[in-house]
Order: sequence, then structure tokens, then C-alpha cells
Amino acid sequence: MTPTPTRHIASINDLSNDEIAAVFDMAQFFLDRQGDPAVPHRIARSADHAAGLILATLFFEPSTRTRLSFESAMNRLGGRVITSADPATSSAAKGESLADAVRVVANYADLIVIRHPRDGAARLAAEYAGIPVINGGDGAHEHPTQTLCDLFTLKKKHASIKGLNVAIAGDLRGSRTIHSFVYALARFGANLILMPAKGLELPAHVDRRLREEFRCTMAKPPPAEIGEFAIDALYVTAKAPHQLSLIPENTDIHMKLTSRIDAVYVTRQQKEREPGRNYGDYPIIDADFLKAPKYSKASVLHPLPRVGELDRAFDSDARAAYFEQAAYGVPIRMALIALLMGLIKDRPLARYPGGFAPAKAVHYEDAARAGLECANQNCIVHDPLERAAARNLFTIAPAPTSSKSVLRCHYCEADIENFIIAHRGERWLKPGASAIRDMTSKDLLAYLFFSDVAGARLAGYVPAPEQSRCE
Ligand code: NCD
Repeated sequence: MTPTPTRHIASINDLSNDEIAAVFDMAQFFLDRQGDPAVPHRIARSADHAAGLILATLFFEPSTRTRLSFESAMNRLGGRVITSADPATSSAAKGESLADAVRVVANYADLIVIRHPRDGAARLAAEYAGIPVINGGDGAHEHPTQTLCDLFTLKKKHASIKGLNVAIAGDLRGSRTIHSFVYALARFGANLILMPAKGLELPAHVDRRLREEFRCTMAKPPPAEIGEFAIDALYVTAKAPHQLSLIPENTDIHMKLTSRIDAVYVTRQQKEREPGRNYGDYPIIDADFLKAPKYSKASVLHPLPRVGELDRAFDSDARAAYFEQAAYGVPIRMALIALLMGLIKDRPLARYPGGFAPAKAVHYEDAARAGLECANQNCIVHDPLERAAARNLFTIAPAPTSSKSVLRCHYCEADIENFIIAHRGERWLKPGASAIRDMTSKDLLAYLFFSDVAGARLAGYVPAPEQSRCE
């Protein structure tokens, strides 16, 4: 069975809102037909929808839930699974590139799920595989299928995601699950209350995307109450009533959003992302934290594993939703596989067009010539094994509300804010951010980008006339 066209899920933003709704419909279809009558969130029976198909799980990082639930999902669909789960016994240990590995494995399977420590690895794998690739977590970038489980849990608990006030606590910097989750929440019209542990705030490029691409209004709240996570920021969804979308520092918004929290999402410290970092105190979510009236109806979610930040004594509380959330990994991943591979004939993904339409990307492919590199050192383009396969490739990030634009790495989606643009023919240079805003891919052919003025000068460019007047 050949899937057409080949779809890859490297980011939650590779799926439209309608497609996500289709995944949920399909997950419910499997729960209804193959579920455990005694445990509503559990798949208990197998079928033969995927007979003859093989899923390859390529995991270069530890995993329990994601790999096993994908494998269980494929087995429940009646397909088969091959796996490489230990980087030490895979050919990566011999120095094989990811690009080569997926090209090879694509001959052994019909679909690949990949987990990798480098940001952007799934997008690179997708370029070389020729068969559908699903991101099972790439560095600190994204974990889109975890987000599908998270959203499905919220829908089960609260009927609709629109209008929910969702508090997100813990390591917002390194948690890939949170990065996919906040985009999806914004797209589905939830409000976000960010409660990062100190120093572990949302990366600047994720924050920018929430505001620029998903049209959240950010309100800086007054200082948080003692004994809580510090509330760092509130994002009011574009879908909220207009009067909520007021200017920053507005106490009203703070009160409105924080007086009723519908869900609390907790993650562990992602220590493997920054091994040298001195992690400070990490607040703990427990019954005491959740006793405030505003949390009385809040479901508590966690992608798991937990390592102390979510008290086990809370497990018996009716608000604890995390084991159910983990159980949905099977029906959700069955649904995603079924839709991607066109297994249930009357429900292919193509039947759900519309919804969120990702902005058309304007690509800049010439970065290597000018020495402009992705600023994120954990990006797959900086992996010595991938040198020959990965190139520095950028898109101009949409910035509808700003006069400046940024260059976004095609793989890890981190932004470069400050860079120099140089005109190849006219030999001038100037700061790039305001110059590129409305450029098309064709316009870009006339330019080179440099990370700084010194680099551009070294290549023979001189400040543009209006720049030299200011110098
Ligand atoms: C998460 C991950 O790997 O990012 N786990 C998971 O897939 N459920 C969260 C984590 O490891 O903290």
C-alpha cells in the first residue's frame, strides 16, 4: 500500500486544525471498536487494518511511552514493527549519519517514527526517507504526537479546548512537549498561563511565534503570589473576546485568566538538554499547591516520566489525568498511522482540508556561502555526522504585527534576530531584520546574509549609502 502524497509530521504545525480533529475522531473510532469495556481509555483488541505494513521505530534517545505506544498502536492495527532503540547498537555508533540511516531503513518499512537528541532531526530525516516520518521527539524542538495525546485528554475532560485557561509549569525552555503544546493550544483558542521554573522560561522564538503567527496577545502579569511558581507571562488567544486583548501589564486580564484554571500541565527538568547547567530549585506540584479554589476543577496533565515534581500522593485525586493521558498514546497513534497511511478508506487526511493553514515559507538556501549558520548549537545542521546531508536553510518568519522579520532555521525553527543583508550586485550591506520583511524567494536571490558586519566587510561589501551617513 503506497501512501499518497507522502506526509511527514515533524511539528504539530504540520497538521491543520481539521486534521487534528480528524485524528481525534479516528482515535474515538478505535476506542469504540477496539477498546476495553472496563477501562474506557484503553485499547484491548487488535484488528487487521494495517496488515502487511511495517513501522520502523528509530530511537536515538531513551523512551518508554512514545516508542512502546507507537509499537502497540501498530500491533493493534494489525501491522508489524521493527525497531532500533539503542544508539550504542545501531550504526550511529559506527558514525553513520541519520540521513543515510533513514534512507536505508525506508527500504525495510512503510513508515518511520524517529526520536533524536538534535533539534530538527525529524525534518532532516523526512527529507531523506521518501516514506512518512513522524517525530517522536527531536531535542528540545517538538514532540507533536505527545501534544495530540495532551489535547485529546483536554477534550475528553473539558469537551472543548477553546476558551480554556491552561497553566504550564516547569521547564518551559527545554521541554519539547511544551513547545508543540503551546502552539496547538493557541491555535485551538486556549489562553496560556506560563509558570516556568526560574531561568527555564519559554525560548524567545517560541514566544515570538505565539504572538506573531498564532496572534496571541501577551500580557505581563503582576508578580505572582508567594509559594507558587512565578507567573511569567499570560497569552490571551486571538479567539478570546476582543475586550480581553488589552495592552500588557493589565491586572484585569491577570485576574480573569488566573481566577479559574482549567488545566495544569507539568513537566520535569530536562537536564539532558543542558548538562552543564546549574538547575536551581524546581517547584513541586502537589495537593497543597492545587488546593486554591482556582484549581478546583483543573485537570492535571504531565507527559511523564515524572521525577519528583508531581507528588505521587496526588494520583488518587479525581483531577489527576496523567495516566489516562499516557493511555491515549495508543488510540491517538493508531489514528495518526491510520490517517497518514490511508488505512480507513473513507477517512483519509485529505478529507479534512482547511483549518490552520501554515504561512507560505520563503526560503533562503544560500546561507552557507555567506557563513550564516543556525544559531542553535543543538540543531541537526551542527551535528558533525550530518555535515554532508544538512545545509543551513532558512525561512523568513512571518511577522504580521512587526516592522522587523527574523530568519528561521528550516530544521529546528530557532530564529536569528540580528543579521546583515548584503546586495550581491550593488555590493552594499545593512542590518537585515527590517529589510527582508516582504521579500519573496525570488527577491532573496539578489542577496547574501552574514551574521555580522565584519563578515560582510571581509567579503567586500560596504555599508549602504543611508547606513554610512549614520556611521
Ligand atoms: C517526554 C519527552 O520525551 O519529551 N516524554 C514522553 O514522550 N512522554 C517528556 C519528558 O521526557 O520529560
